[in-house]
Amino acid sequence: MSQIDSARAIKNGALVAFPTETVYGLGADASNEKAVARIYEVKGRPHDHPLILHIASIDDISYWVKNINDYAMTLARNFWPGPMTLIFNRNERAEDFVTGGQETVGLRVPNHAIALDLLQECLKIGVHAIAAPSANRFGHVSPTTVDAVREEIGSYLSDQDLILDGGPSHVGLESTIIDCTADAPRILRPGAITQSMIEECTGMRINESNNSEIRVSGSFEKHYAPNAQILIDAQAHAGQGFIALAEIPTPIGAIRLASPNSIDEYARVLYTALRDGDTQGLATIVVIQPSGVGLAIAIRDRLMRASKGR
Ligand code: TXA
Ligand code: MG
Repeated sequence: MSQIDSARAIKNGALVAFPTETVYGLGADASNEKAVARIYEVKGRPHDHPLILHIASIDDISYWVKNINDYAMTLARNFWPGPMTLIFNRNERAEDFVTGGQETVGLRVPNHAIALDLLQECLKIGVHAIAAPSANRFGHVSPTTVDAVREEIGSYLSDQDLILDGGPSHVGLESTIIDCTADAPRILRPGAITQSMIEECTGMRINESNNSEIRVSGSFEKHYAPNAQILIDAQAHAGQGFIALAEIPTPIGAIRLASPNSIDEYARVLYTALRDGDTQGLATIVVIQPSGVGLAIAIRDRLMRASKGR
């Protein structure tokens, strides 16, 4: 299947919602100011929040970026295409309207056949990146299925915009974001590319205390949140939603929304489970967090933000 027509739509200034392995993105030509402005409108997102630029391959980094650290190249070579966004110092092609006025730009090569096909077709007609946030309204849960995309933003799109169906997202949580502008990498948002994977790949230690406050919109409170109130590691009562690893039994009367058998599956089904709770009109969802490091850290990070409410 080729994405020639979708690439053409992007070139013409339309928005294209597309699948990636993490979550679905809402894409526009990263050099088209008007098209990018529509992303912010459709999402209801503040303009100073930067967008990730999705590129076809590692070869396209230098089109947008200056000063590429060796360790950043090592990370890109190892984990792209994949669930990892790298933050670089921008060059003049990455304009204020995609970086939120910051001097840095985030890049990612997604690992999904449809996304890669679309990016390659875009490149052939002179679109060097697709700027795309997650395809949800600002502050909501990211969509991991095409139905969730339609539910979130379908009514805000216009006739020339497209929604591509690539099946359920394989990872299910947003990419790991790594700041590559300093001498050592810094994790800005945890994800499926974990601290130990980054350390092993680069041979550098990541200082935990550095992994704190930055201008990532996902770092604000009130994010990744469903309508239901999320209670973490609480006692679930009758009529409340319940999400936990399969080994944990459902409290009497609670409504089981997911029973993942592994941490990977937990990440993959979490957002759909939260949406199911909203569809069922549940006021409260109790979530028993997974313990441990790696992807479990990313799951706990999103749950903590979701529990702040909207
Ligand atoms: O997995 C993902 O990253 C998905 C898929 C579609 O690629 N995208 C995604 O985009 O989650 P979004 O916009 O929902 O979240 C990206 C985060 C935002 O919190 C944004 O502030 C941050 O990345 N970000 C983007 N550029 C940045 C930069 N230059 N410096 C710091 N943070 C940046
Ligand atoms: Mg988002």
